[in-house]
Amino acid sequence: MRVGILTGGGDAPGLNAAIRAAVAKGEDYGWEMVGIRRGWAGLLDADTTPLCWEDVEGIVAVGGTLLETSRTNPFKRDGDEALLLGNVEKMRLDALLAIGGDDTLTVAHKLCRSGVPCVGVPKTMDNDVALTDNTIGFDTAVTISTEAIDRLHSTARSHRRLMVVEVMGRDAGWVAIQSGLAGGAHLILIPEIPYSIEDVAQFLHQRKARGETYSLIVVSEAIYPQEGGQLLGYERREVDAFGHVRLGGVGHIFAELLERKSGLETRSTVLGHLVRSGPPTPFDRIMATRMGVKAMEMIHQKGWDSMAALQGTEMVAVPLTDVLAQSKTVPVELYNSIKLLFR
Ligand code: F6P
Repeated sequence: MRVGILTGGGDAPGLNAAIRAAVAKGEDYGWEMVGIRRGWAGLLDADTTPLCWEDVEGIVAVGGTLLETSRTNPFKRDGDEALLLGNVEKMRLDALLAIGGDDTLTVAHKLCRSGVPCVGVPKTMDNDVALTDNTIGFDTAVTISTEAIDRLHSTARSHRRLMVVEVMGRDAGWVAIQSGLAGGAHLILIPEIPYSIEDVAQFLHQRKARGETYSLIVVSEAIYPQEGGQLLGYERREVDAFGHVRLGGVGHIFAELLERKSGLETRSTVLGHLVRSGPPTPFDRIMATRMGVKAMEMIHQKGWDSMAALQGTEMVAVPLTDVLAQSKTVPVELYNSIKLLFR
């Protein structure tokens, strides 16, 4: 067997651990492992690199992806799908492991339909892939965000200010809610629950009236006012190959609006790409390793069109059709159950 591995979409800590484990397991089966550079772009360009244990041995703790990545949609331009299928033949790939979020997994699913045997591993710091408890990079993002929030309390407290902290997450508030909870944020705003700026300002004044000298609010990078629309960070509306608008910067805009509305001195910090950079946490390393091994077992069993997933403590295979039929966002009930901590 010749098995290709690629990573697509935004990078995330833990990708290298998954690649390393997949190579180890593949070699164990006696297979030839091939790295495809820059995600689907590398398959369109036939840009490959041989992958042996020696290439991946020391990368379990290294962030990013050895194979590099891109946001390439090979179904977008006429002719690209045919080119891709031709390259799979030319490269003599018997199977493909695609490591990525919903976009990458959607391409893998479509390729399966076109006769390319694929399996997937879920990666995204956003944690919005369904049917798996966690995705690669999420635990690291929560850990780094929590550490930043812990630190930001002290400067906010010292200056008696309001601090707004923005974290990534796209249309899922997982990183915001987990890190906000762990970091003792006084309020957390997520895309799933539209906010009212009047209510937020009133909440801050209630805190002040009670004698609290400062406040810290965590906001996810996509937030929606109750009156409709989306609060946008930067003016530009660039979209990627999958049609997603570039986000980021909403924390600054929200802080300005809130300062005006509440009259409280406010500062904002956008954590941005920092939370998906650098070494993965032990949890991400271990989960990604298990996912890499599981994916190779799935290929061995010819369990095509499926994804390795963590459910509880078990590593299981789930059909990509089911994964892609839904999006995993923060349930309203979860948010409501922790609201008592916003005080
Ligand atoms: O999907 C992961 C993610 O980190 C999002 O949270 C964020 O909006 C986006 O990627 C940023 O993408 P880029 O690295 O292309 O700026």
